[in-house]
Amino acid sequence: MLLLSVFVGSFSVASAGDFHQEFDLTWGDQRAQILNGGELLTLDLDKASGSGFRSKREYLFGRIDMQIKLVAGNSAGTVTAFYLSSEGPNHDEIDFEFLGNLSGDPYIVHTNVYCQGKGDREQQFYLWFDPTQHFHTYSIVWNQHRIIFLVDNIPIRVFNNEESIGVPFPRNQPMSIYSSLWDADDWATRGGLVKTDWSKAPFTAYYRNFKANACTWSNGKSDCASQVLNAARNNVWQTQALDASGRRRLRWVQRYFMVYNYCADLKRFPQGRPRKFRLRGAPVCQDLHPPPHVQEAS
Ligand SMILES: *[C@@H]1O[C@H](CO)[C@@H](O)[C@H](O)[C@H]1NC(C)=O
Repeated sequence: MLLLSVFVGSFSVASAGDFHQEFDLTWGDQRAQILNGGELLTLDLDKASGSGFRSKREYLFGRIDMQIKLVAGNSAGTVTAFYLSSEGPNHDEIDFEFLGNLSGDPYIVHTNVYCQGKGDREQQFYLWFDPTQHFHTYSIVWNQHRIIFLVDNIPIRVFNNEESIGVPFPRNQPMSIYSSLWDADDWATRGGLVKTDWSKAPFTAYYRNFKANACTWSNGKSDCASQVLNAARNNVWQTQALDASGRRRLRWVQRYFMVYNYCADLKRFPQGRPRKFRLRGAPVCQDLHPPPHVQEAS
């Protein structure tokens, strides 16, 4: 068992660790910093600007893990985004956005998936811990069949490929990994009621232990097309789905921590849950087991 895990471990990570090697600091000047020999990255936000970074590589499918410690104290009005995105007007995107709050009030984790430029597939959650005290792992599993959002390895959302009923799924456009910290006090906290307190600036978010177990895209092709490389890779994520315990955990999160679910938004889907609703162009709820009781957040 030990031997096996050592063996798998040695091949499982396409890229890990050093922020200098994996990311470019893309905006905010000195507000974005890589420290401790590439082990730690910090983003700052002050009144003049936020900051952000972007992966040097592009990926087409993979499992991406990042440990993040969110802005502590009064983080109302701030948004820390961690997402995958392709480029162009018909871009695909897979989003985690962490909406700050007053000290002691809960962050909201906002998730969304864009396919060919179209989003509107939001689900929002509270967390079962204070995300500002310690680092926690936020992961995106993206394969041909589904997208799984995980927090500390607990699935909070499963977005399915429903191409068989004519709905687009992000699977043709390579994506980069992005993160940024910015001010969005017109909507982030209690729908924009609570504004950023600039006397508390600069606001800081911390990143470490990045891992991409993923197919890297370069010169118009994926390195997963190479059978040699692919055979030497940990492929679990390529077919990853939820087992019984994963489904139990997902139900637990959805039941106790879900704040908003587009699938249950009666303003958008007056007929109720539109799963497999086949009208051309009609929105389709692609999420696994959406609980019908969750209504729109006020
Ligand atoms: C902030 O706290 C308030 C009060 O508990 C809550 O209603 C809201 O959902 C929290 N999160 C955000 C991002 O507004």
